[in-house]
Formats: sequence, C-alpha cells, structure tokens
Amino acid sequence: KEFIYLDEVDSTNTYVKQNQQHLPNATLVYAERQAQGRGRLSRRWVDLEKGIKMSILLKILLLDLEKIVPLTLFTGLVINRVLREYGVNSFIKWSNDIYLNGKKICGILSELSGEVEGFGSIIIGVGINVNAENIPNEIKDIATSLKAETSQNFDRTRLIIDILKEFEKEFPSFEKYGFSHFRDEYKSFCMNLGKEILVNGERMVCRDIGQKGELVCEKEGQIIEISSGEVTIRF
Ligand code: BTN
Repeated sequence: KEFIYLDEVDSTNTYVKQNQQHLPNATLVYAERQAQGRGRLSRRWVDLEKGIKMSILLKILLLDLEKIVPLTLFTGLVINRVLREYGVNSFIKWSNDIYLNGKKICGILSELSGEVEGFGSIIIGVGINVNAENIPNEIKDIATSLKAETSQNFDRTRLIIDILKEFEKEFPSFEKYGFSHFRDEYKSFCMNLGKEILVNGERMVCRDIGQKGELVCEKEGQIIEISSGEVTIRF
C-alpha cells in the first residue's frame, strides 16, 4: 500500500487519475488543501481548513465494474459507521452524502478511470469536514463540520485509519455478497426513507432502497427506480 501526502493539489481525484499507471492498487492520496476540489454532478467541493480530502485508487477486474455504484454506497456506509462509533449522530443521504444535524459533513465522488491490462480503476474521492470552525457563507446553510456541530476536535489521522480499517475489514463481504449484505444497515441510517423528495426536480416519495442500492420511489401510484441524479429531501 502506498500513502501520498500533498500539501496542496488541484484535486486528489484528478491527481490519482493522472498518475494511476504508476500507482499500485489501494494507493491513498491525501491533500491538506485542494484548489479545485470536485463534487458530484460537476459541482465544486469547497475547500475547508482542517478537513480530510483524500482519494483511494482501486484497481479491479473489469468484470466487477458494475459494482461501482454500490461501492460508493458501501464507502458512505463505512464512514457513517465509524462516525457513529465515535458517538456522532450522523445519517446517510442517498446516495452517499453524510449529514449531521441536517447539514452535510461528507461527500463522496467515485470515478471510473481507464483500463490497463484487463483492470479498471475506480477512484473513490472522500471529503470530510472535520475541524473547520468557520464555514463559508456560500455553503453554511447546507454544510457544516464535525467540530462546528460537536465543539470537539477530531484526530484526523485516527479517523482516516479507522475508516481504512473498517473498509478493509468489510470489503471481502462486499465483494462476496454485494450491497445487499449491507442494505439493512444502510436503510436504518438513510434519511430519505419515507420522505417526500425531489428527484431531478420531480416530486415523489422514497419508499425503499433496493438490493443494488437504488432508490425506490413512488409517484402518483407508480414505482420508479432511480440509480443516479440529484435528490433533495423536502422537510
Ligand atoms: C459530493 O458530495 O459532491 C462529492 C464531494 C467529493 C469531494 C472529495 S474531496 C477529495 C476528492 N477530490 C475531489 O476533487 N473530490 C473528492
């Protein structure tokens, strides 16, 4: 395993993408600052001080690539589990955002990247707002940090190690059984269930999370399955 620490980079995901050929499986790239952090749906990931911004490179057999969506959900579940072990009352917003007190503290951006000798690369980018005290105005209604909510400082190194350990411990079960093995736990912490939500602007009710992690919704008596997109919860 390789660990790369960078003081500053444009985006750890981009860094891994550009260097993947030389990086071994399970490389972790961490940056103290990201000048152009990227979020899902082409959004920006605002760089907060004293946070965790990291990307993990997984080189996996192309046959397994259909697991990428569930893999992202699995990663969110693992992070949520570790935070809960720390006593943080966090929840998962489908597909893989983590929320605390109604605001986002963690986002995950998984990207598929290229193929080398029958192997594909999955880059799992994780951003966690950890010890930031000041949340910029532009995001402060929707985002927060662990410190801002709990008044506690978290040891970032320990948090990363605990996340990686949990990931490694559970990954074999994920490979063997897929997302369905983790579905009950995911559902028990999923904020969307039973709520009225907006999916790409359309209003529906979230009824279930499927075996592969898809969002099962009801709209005017019809059941619709959603596997990606913008989801807003209406409180
Ligand atoms: C989202 O919620 O939209 C996903 C945010 C993902 C942010 C992380 S920070 C480390 C990695 N590098 C990036 O450029 N993005 C991800």
